Amino acid sequence: MRKPLPIKALFDSDYIDQQVYVAGWLRSARRGKRFSFAVLNDGSCFQSLQIVIDNSRFPAHVLDNLHTGGCIAVEGTVVRSPGREQAIELQAQNITIFGTADPATYPLQKKQHSLEFLRTIAHLRPRTRFFSAVLRIRNTLSYAIHQFFQERGFFYIHTPIITASDCEGAGELFQVTTFDLNDVPKQDGMVDYQQDFFGKPAYLTVSGQLNVETTALALTKVYTFGPTFRAEHSNTPRHLAEFWMVEPEMAFYDLEDTMDLAEEFLKNIIQKVLDNHQDDLAFLSQFNQVDLTERLKRVIQEPYERLPYTEAIAILEASKKNFQFPVKWGIDLKTEHERYLTEEYFKKPVIVYNYPAEVKAFYMRQNDDGKTVAAMDVLFPEVGEIIGGSQREERYERLLQRIQTLGLKIEDYHWYLAIRQYGSAPHSGFGLGLERLVQFCTGMANIRDTIPFPRAYGLLNF
Ligand code: 4AD
Ligand code: MG
Repeated sequence: MRKPLPIKALFDSDYIDQQVYVAGWLRSARRGKRFSFAVLNDGSCFQSLQIVIDNSRFPAHVLDNLHTGGCIAVEGTVVRSPGREQAIELQAQNITIFGTADPATYPLQKKQHSLEFLRTIAHLRPRTRFFSAVLRIRNTLSYAIHQFFQERGFFYIHTPIITASDCEGAGELFQVTTFDLNDVPKQDGMVDYQQDFFGKPAYLTVSGQLNVETTALALTKVYTFGPTFRAEHSNTPRHLAEFWMVEPEMAFYDLEDTMDLAEEFLKNIIQKVLDNHQDDLAFLSQFNQVDLTERLKRVIQEPYERLPYTEAIAILEASKKNFQFPVKWGIDLKTEHERYLTEEYFKKPVIVYNYPAEVKAFYMRQNDDGKTVAAMDVLFPEVGEIIGGSQREERYERLLQRIQTLGLKIEDYHWYLAIRQYGSAPHSGFGLGLERLVQFCTGMANIRDTIPFPRAYGLLNF
C-alpha cells in the first residue's frame, strides 16, 4: 500500500512546489462555492495541514463526504499559504476517501468538549488536540527512559505480571483466579486454592522490584519498566489502578547515590520533552492555563532540596497550616504536605529521606537510629510524590527479623531472602510512576487524562 508522508515532514523541511501524498483524519471541513477547505491531521505532530480543494475538479461523492472525523488521503502540491493561520497548504489533485464519518452522529464536534465527556469516548479521544499531544509526550518520556538507562549500561529486565507475593505489603492486590466465583471449591469451609490455576493464591504485581533485585545482584545495573496494578480504593486525581512504573535497581549504590541518580534521571528525560515538544507544550499550556515551558525548566535548572523526614516534619509543624491530616513525627506524608513543601516552602522539587520504618515497606534498609529506614521520596510541585525508592536491607538476619515482625509469610519470600544468603551486596533502587510524570509535563489535572484507557476504582470501560 502506498505510504503517506507524515505531515510533520512538511513542517520540518521545505516541500514548497513539491508533489506529496498525505493521509489522516479531518479536524474540520468547509464547503465553499468554488473552493472547499479541509484541515487534515495525522498525529505525527501538533500541526494540521490545510487542504485546498477546487470543487470543479472533484465529483460530488468526494465533496459530499468531506466531514470532520473522516479519513482521507490527498495527493497534491505544497504551496505557501496566503492565509495568516498557516505557513503552507496543500492544493489537492487526488482525494481518496478511506472512511467517512456521519456528521449527525460523530461525537467530536469543533466546540471544546469537557475532559469528563472525552473520557467516555476514550476510543476517539486520541483524535483530539490535547490528547494526541499527551500521547506524543508520553511516548517521548518512555523512549527517553530507555535511552537514559541504556546509555548508562543498565540492562532492561522483564519482571512477571502475575506474582505470589505482595511487594509493598500494603494489601492492595488484585487477585488472579480461574475459579468460577459462583462456585468456588472449598475445603473445611475455606477456599481450596490447590484447585486454582496455580495451586495457590495469585495476584497482579504492584511492583517489579523484588524480582528485579535478583537480577541486580547478578548484572549489577538493571531496570524494569512495565504495568503495575493497585487495588487502592482511592478516587483521586493521582491514582490509577493500572499504571506504568520504571524501576532501576543498582548493586553498590547507597541511598545518596540513588538520590543522585533519580535527580539526574528526571532532569534528563524532562529535557527531552522540552527539546521535542514546543508545539504540544504551547497548546497544553494554553489548554491548562499554566506555563509548561517555565514549569519544566524550573525542575531542570535547580538542584533539588534534600532533607531528612524529621526536618520535613519540623517544617510542616512550624508552618501553622491547617492540614486536613494533622502533622506529627511518624505519619506518612500526604499530598497536601508534599505540596506545601514543594510549592510553598522550597518552591522546587524536594527529596525527603530517612522515613519512619512503620510507614514504609519491609525491604528498606534499617538505619542505626533503630527508628528510620533508608527510604527516599522525590516530591514534585503539583503532583506530590513522583518517585519512591530506598536502599534495600541486604543483611540477611535483619531482613528475616523484619519479615517475621510484620507477620509476613517466610515461604513467600524464601527466594528474596536467599539472595542475602548467597553473595549479598549493598544495593538500592527506585520507582517512577510514568503517569505522574506525564501529568506534571502536560499540566493535566487528572491522571485519567494521561493514559489511553484509564482504570481506576469503579472505572473499567473499553
Ligand atoms: O512508592 P511506590 O509504592 O514504590 C514502589 O512500588 C517501589 N517498589 C519502587 C522501587 O523502589 N522500585 O511507587 C512508586 C511510584 C510512586 O512514587 C508514584 O509515582 C507511582 O509509583 N504510583 C502510582 N501512580 C499512579 N497510581 C497509583 N495508584 C500509584 N501508586 C504509586
Ligand atoms: Mg511511595
